[in-house]
Amino acid sequence: MRTHFCGLIDDTLIGQTVTLCGWADVARDMGQIVFIDLRDHEGIVQAVAEPADAAGNAAMLAVAASVGYEDCLRITGTVRRRQNVNPKIRTGQVEVVAETIEVLNKAEPLPFHHHENPGEDIRLKYRYLDLRSPDMQRKMRIRTRLVSALRHWLDARSFQDIETPILTKATPEGARDFLVPARMHPGEFYALPQSPQLFKQILMMAGFDRYYQIARCFRDEALRADRQLEFTQLDMEFAWVAERDVQDTVEAMVRDVFHEVAGVTLAAEFPRLTWAEAMRRYGSDKPDLRIALELVDVADLVKDCEFAVFTAAANDAGGRVAALRIPGGAALSRKQIDDYAAHAAKFGAKGLAYAKLDDSGAVNSPIAKFFSAEALAALLAHVGAGKGDIVFFGAGAYNKVSDFMGAVRLKAGKEFNLVRDGWAPLWVTDFPMFDWDEEESRYVALHHPFTAPAVDNIEDLRANAKTAVSRGYDMVLNGNEIGGGSIRIHNSAMQSAVFELLGIGAEEAEGKFGFLLDALKYGAPPHGGIAFGIDRIAALMAGTESIRDVIAFPKTTTAQCLMTGAPSEVPEKQLTEVHVQVRPKAAG
Ligand code: AMO
Ligand code: AMP
Repeated sequence: MRTHFCGLIDDTLIGQTVTLCGWADVARDMGQIVFIDLRDHEGIVQAVAEPADAAGNAAMLAVAASVGYEDCLRITGTVRRRQNVNPKIRTGQVEVVAETIEVLNKAEPLPFHHHENPGEDIRLKYRYLDLRSPDMQRKMRIRTRLVSALRHWLDARSFQDIETPILTKATPEGARDFLVPARMHPGEFYALPQSPQLFKQILMMAGFDRYYQIARCFRDEALRADRQLEFTQLDMEFAWVAERDVQDTVEAMVRDVFHEVAGVTLAAEFPRLTWAEAMRRYGSDKPDLRIALELVDVADLVKDCEFAVFTAAANDAGGRVAALRIPGGAALSRKQIDDYAAHAAKFGAKGLAYAKLDDSGAVNSPIAKFFSAEALAALLAHVGAGKGDIVFFGAGAYNKVSDFMGAVRLKAGKEFNLVRDGWAPLWVTDFPMFDWDEEESRYVALHHPFTAPAVDNIEDLRANAKTAVSRGYDMVLNGNEIGGGSIRIHNSAMQSAVFELLGIGAEEAEGKFGFLLDALKYGAPPHGGIAFGIDRIAALMAGTESIRDVIAFPKTTTAQCLMTGAPSEVPEKQLTEVHVQVRPKAAG
């Protein structure tokens, strides 16, 4: 149908006849001459329909004049140098003088055009129109190149690509499962995998040495800019390894692939922070190290003040009083400070005290009254506050204060332009093994229940569950968790003990994970691995905030596909076949 791609026409083709196919990006009818920007997946080239003596050309000019947005066209013409060079596009040196113009398919008036900036809902409803835009084409191509580069890297190193089931049994990763009714087994359900976790571990027990899979994962959890119900992992597992074997390999992979796909040179060695240090200094387990601000602990300096909120936290072993100095922050208005407090409240803060130092060095603070002048000066000096700065304070339970002060740090980093350019990867290690779930009054696994504890001894783990550290690790890039993994438990008795600590009784463990507990008994090698979020990495490489921009057909934050209308009701007959009876919708 065509001889060349629109976006690749250049001055080496001057004088040649080419046949191009594409969409009419824009058509400009100037009366005696019509310009058509013809677009395909490679880019845009200008075609010109000029007046001529021949009657045939008059007909062509009429066709050109009738062209509307997004008509599908086939144009044959000669490439010539353009009079008005357009430096903004790759083909800007040349144009194609049309000899024939065929309208292959006329487009009806569009719901929107990619030149506009319509809302995301309409973009998602007509996703095929949205995806035609050069920007979305660019982003999707980065994703393709990312996956291809990863595959090449892994294939060259003898990783084996093995598919694992989609219809399976629940694999807990902390989210709800998607269930699929089993027609052949009335009343029974498959679960879609939250990750291939158990299968990849079993593959190591099955004699494979290095596995990978570009795996679709399904998690019924709240959606956000960096979370979808179904997303794609680069899932990896290694036999006979300890932490550094896995980490050093995948760090090299990430470095090579960023260089190849995005032209980015990441640090020769990624910095490493323990989880405890990350929380202490940055109030986050995925700190954005591009922001130079750090939290400072001030419990010692406030434990005798007269503000009960501070003294209670400062004198409690599980409490924290943290300060964050923002250079130049004294310029914040009352309303802006309230915005910071409201932001902190979203992360559980009951209040956000502050102290401003104006240009004369005078302190303006709602908590000044609780301190002697000397104590306040000592406190501000300790955090390095000077004229023109603001210091925010958070007090309360350790993890909560870390969380909300971490959120304040990110907001301030962005709003005060303190995010340096570039890329800041790191490893976060030594996560706590368990998190105490107040509502359910039981431990939950911070990574997943198959992550090995740092101690080998079951009695030690039981005795110190609260403070136990795991062999889990995350890779973080610019404040995003791009990968998470661990060394796994490879001993059946330890796995049973961890299930027990998580409140999974022997019977339940046998029912849910009996196959794993069995496999662990018959010569399971030490093993470990990691999974990377492909969508998140592609979004970072493409320079977009939302992973929806690098997923062809994503769901909205209300978990719907606006194009197909999924999810939707199904006919009664289909429900009967799969033995499902739908409960009436709850009122309201
Ligand atoms: P984890 O749950 O940390 O680990 O997931 C690994 C990586 O997958 C990405 N990710 C997501 N991306 C988009 N939408 C989501 N809802 C979503 N959830 C996670 C993140 C994350 O770092 N089985 C373990 C891995 C292992 O232990 O080897 C696992 O799934 O980038
Ligand atoms: P109050 O005396 O309750 O008005 O509080 C004085 C200041 O302390 C206000 O600026 C509050 O926002 C702040 N504050 C209250 N609770 C906390 C807390 N847990 N951490 C930090 N600041 C707080």
